[in-house]
Amino acid sequence: MVQNIDSILQENRLFPPTADFANSASINAAKLQALYQQAEEHHEGFWAELARSELAWKKPFNKTLNSDHAPHYRWFEDGKLNVSYNCIDRHLPDKADKTAIIFEGEQGDTRHISYAELHQETCRFANALKAQGIASGDRVVIYMPMVPEAIIAMQACARIGAIHSVVFGGFSAEALKDRIDDASAKLLITADGGHRGGKIVELKAAADKALESCGDSLQTVIVLKRTAHDVTMKAGRDIWWTDATQGLSDECEPVWVDAEHPLFLLYTSGSTGKPKGIVHSSAGYLLGTIVTMKWVFDHRADDIFWCTADVGWITGHSYVAYGPLAVGGTIMVYEGAPTVPDTGRFWQLCETHKVTVFYTAPTAIRALMKSGDEVPNRYDLSSIRLLGTVGEPINPEAWMWYHMVIGKTRCPIVDTWWQTETGANMIAPVPGVVATKPGSCTRALPGMALDVVDEEGNPITTPNKGGLLVVRKPWPSMLRGVWGDEARYIEAYWGMFNNRYYVAGDSARRDEDGYFWIMGRIDDVLNVSGHRLGTMEVESALVAHPAVVEAAVVGRPDEIKGEAILAYVVLKGARPEGGKDATLTQELRSWVGEQIGAIAKPSDIRYADNLPKTRSGKIMRRLLRTIASGEEITQDTSTLENETILLQLQGKE
Ligand code: WT7
Repeated sequence: MVQNIDSILQENRLFPPTADFANSASINAAKLQALYQQAEEHHEGFWAELARSELAWKKPFNKTLNSDHAPHYRWFEDGKLNVSYNCIDRHLPDKADKTAIIFEGEQGDTRHISYAELHQETCRFANALKAQGIASGDRVVIYMPMVPEAIIAMQACARIGAIHSVVFGGFSAEALKDRIDDASAKLLITADGGHRGGKIVELKAAADKALESCGDSLQTVIVLKRTAHDVTMKAGRDIWWTDATQGLSDECEPVWVDAEHPLFLLYTSGSTGKPKGIVHSSAGYLLGTIVTMKWVFDHRADDIFWCTADVGWITGHSYVAYGPLAVGGTIMVYEGAPTVPDTGRFWQLCETHKVTVFYTAPTAIRALMKSGDEVPNRYDLSSIRLLGTVGEPINPEAWMWYHMVIGKTRCPIVDTWWQTETGANMIAPVPGVVATKPGSCTRALPGMALDVVDEEGNPITTPNKGGLLVVRKPWPSMLRGVWGDEARYIEAYWGMFNNRYYVAGDSARRDEDGYFWIMGRIDDVLNVSGHRLGTMEVESALVAHPAVVEAAVVGRPDEIKGEAILAYVVLKGARPEGGKDATLTQELRSWVGEQIGAIAKPSDIRYADNLPKTRSGKIMRRLLRTIASGEEITQDTSTLENETILLQLQGKE
């Protein structure tokens, strides 16, 4: 499992914050030292104090942490609050007119939404949900373009205690159906479409298709008019957003929920089975997003904070819809693709809206880097003061480009390690204090007990020796479970060390300075453009095609996406000549696109008579990975039934 985890990367450059940044940062070295010390000395007390100072409670809590049913941890459980109140209402006394959301559509339409307006819209939509019979604890699926109403819908659910499950708009009808059914959702919020890449994303059509075969939990579909092109509305089931909110009050008393009340589910891939519905709490989750907005993003009242992630991912939950609003910030939201009308779009948006903090994924940085320095150089990026990355390790070359060309050597880069399950940043530099190294997410944040252990669970103390990334202590924004699958929660995250540690599923090492370097996944999870995909999911989609008998997919290093998917397929009929069949490959790619979404389409497919298996019949994935990356085969292949398939898999025959 953890064989050969050795460091390949040797990066010694060190980038301390500039004096300018350090002097104005809200966390200085002394403050950070104090935070670490408090957290170290009294983990629970540290978090309790933050929960009291950072959250607005309806009923204060007395009990900080309940570990009676570990690894089911409960934080602040006797307190009551409302997340939407914390994100909106509490800012109204002094920030009613402050802009909460700056929106720009792909076609250039813009909107500014103040906190007062966000409050009205959220309340009105919360009333609409109630009018459709939605109550606290009900599940609502959101399948929307990246427009303010997606955030309003999330906030409205939070306001009435409904549990939302946002499904990324790039996912297919099939994926949407699975998620609606798994959550037994009662209501779906979607749009007639969204603008992306110069085209209309047919969200409503996909939703209609999903609902054809859904279970009968789903009663109502609320449809936002965004593109105004023709869609079919099913009488008795579908209602336009404007009709659903017509005449309803713009006041809605928040439902005060328990701290542990689930705020949302978000599905993410594991190595086996269907995607897991990760459950997040209300108070603990929100606290994690707030403290990291302050520690990592150095939040300031005048920031224009732009996290480019879609609300369909955890990053878009924690650093678009919740965290920045909870601290009373102003967020930038962009609907479309980074390439419309050209690859300067992100930089144009930064210039136009005076973005101060810019947070994106390495895959986007690499893609934009490819278009050359002259593109960003056309824009005034002087408003930017802090840059961030998330999703996968950033290669030093892309880091340096981000640092020089976008940050003009002036802006610290916060490389933030975290996961859907962790709710908020866990390993990341505090930008005014911690010197960064290209490719390292640096140190664990205060109160986050990250460690690297060997296969017996012993901490690894030798610098640069790889091991498993674990968390030794519970933290407030941790996941609370896997929706409807108790066993999977234990098995996927806690089983390996008998509930002693949370196992992240990543391998990592720490260098001489104690900095963390993430080395990759330990399971069969792919990371395509910073998003997780299970090999199993893609394989199941492939074998569901009538022409396919067997399939194995592996990741291959990709310059832009981090990892690209390569599929090895055995067909029912004869193997195509030379192992290639462009037409069938096209068909299988679109097939996978329909089953899961475009992100899961294999970039290439190779056809073989057989797949390499061990004697016990397990597919030799490591061998396939070696082949996929074009490396020399060093594994023992003597157990292969048919050695000629090696040549087939390599595309040499
Ligand atoms: C996996 C989590 C959390 C938001 C985006 C992805 C990888 C994430 C980093 C980073 C190296 C990273 C890990 C992790 N990852 N951030 N800064 N450096 N690797 O969320 O889909 O839940 O995936 O992404 O492998 O386990 P996710």
